[in-house]
Amino acid sequence: MNTVHFFYYELLVAMSIRLDQLVRNSAEAIASAQHSDSARLDAELLVLQVLKKPRSFLYSHPECLIDADQLAAINQLLQRRCEGIPVAYLLGQKEFWSLMLAVDERVLIPRPETEAIIDYVLQLALPEQASVIDLGTGSGAIALALASEKPNYFIVASDYSEGALAVAKQNAQQLAANGVCHEVPLLRGDWLSALGKNTFDLVVSNPPYIDAQDPHLQQGDVRFEPLSALVSKDFGYDDIQIISRQAKDCLKSGGHLIIEHGYDQREAIIKMIEAEGYRSVIDHDDLNAMPRFVTAIKA
Ligand SMILES: C[S@@+](CC[C@H](N)C(=O)[O-])C[C@H]1O[C@@H](n2cnc3c(N)ncnc32)[C@H](O)[C@@H]1O
Repeated sequence: MNTVHFFYYELLVAMSIRLDQLVRNSAEAIASAQHSDSARLDAELLVLQVLKKPRSFLYSHPECLIDADQLAAINQLLQRRCEGIPVAYLLGQKEFWSLMLAVDERVLIPRPETEAIIDYVLQLALPEQASVIDLGTGSGAIALALASEKPNYFIVASDYSEGALAVAKQNAQQLAANGVCHEVPLLRGDWLSALGKNTFDLVVSNPPYIDAQDPHLQQGDVRFEPLSALVSKDFGYDDIQIISRQAKDCLKSGGHLIIEHGYDQREAIIKMIEAEGYRSVIDHDDLNAMPRFVTAIKA
């Protein structure tokens, strides 16, 4: 009997189990399914979701007995995690820039690496009431993080996917209701094609940039994320090319362009953006020291 089966068997026969033992068994089950490199953390988050307790409860009440209903609910989540479904989708939320955002299968799970873009924007000397657009907003992560930091900026967020816009709207409304930021307007559009000339001080985007043949698409959490959020034509470069071309018109003179890209696309992206006529084209690493985003200024 392997660990997963042992665990489910144990759940069935032992209708009460201590919290610390449950977390240990859950972590073993997740690890043995080989879809996660953070099995212990995944187990803790899934168990706590059902118990509706903070993380400190694991350490303050390790002896707490889990009842049969809770076990059944935890078992369901564990089975789905063992099938590979990302923890963020199972929890229905993901933290980005200290904001708790709702996420589901209609949006990319916001990555901590993208927070490097927020750090960068906060250091820019933009006008007091800068006009900003986040293209391909997904859950709203970039736009909402910026709105939470810069209440005077006029920030809009757009996406082509109606499903993504529904999730972004939920997040925008929730954060506005909690007083975290003003409500960010959402637009449906194909990049900047319908937007006016000389409109924005900043165009920022984390677009799809993965080649359709990239084997990483068959691995880990990305298997469950929308392909329309991940894959771009022309070996992953098509959307970045379109955005950088269209942004030349929509940016004000001296306006800033920021685009996230893949770790192995740095040189090609710099050449592409320079060829579009931008000045001060600079590439930046994320916190893992991997190439992550390019910045440029409209000449
Ligand atoms: C990599 S996800 C980024 C999501 C979010 N900005 C983040 O960083 O977590 C790319 C987003 O671009 C959107 N997208 C794809 N093609 C688009 C297009 N032609 N016009 C506008 N948005 C598009 C997808 O729906 C998806 O939400």
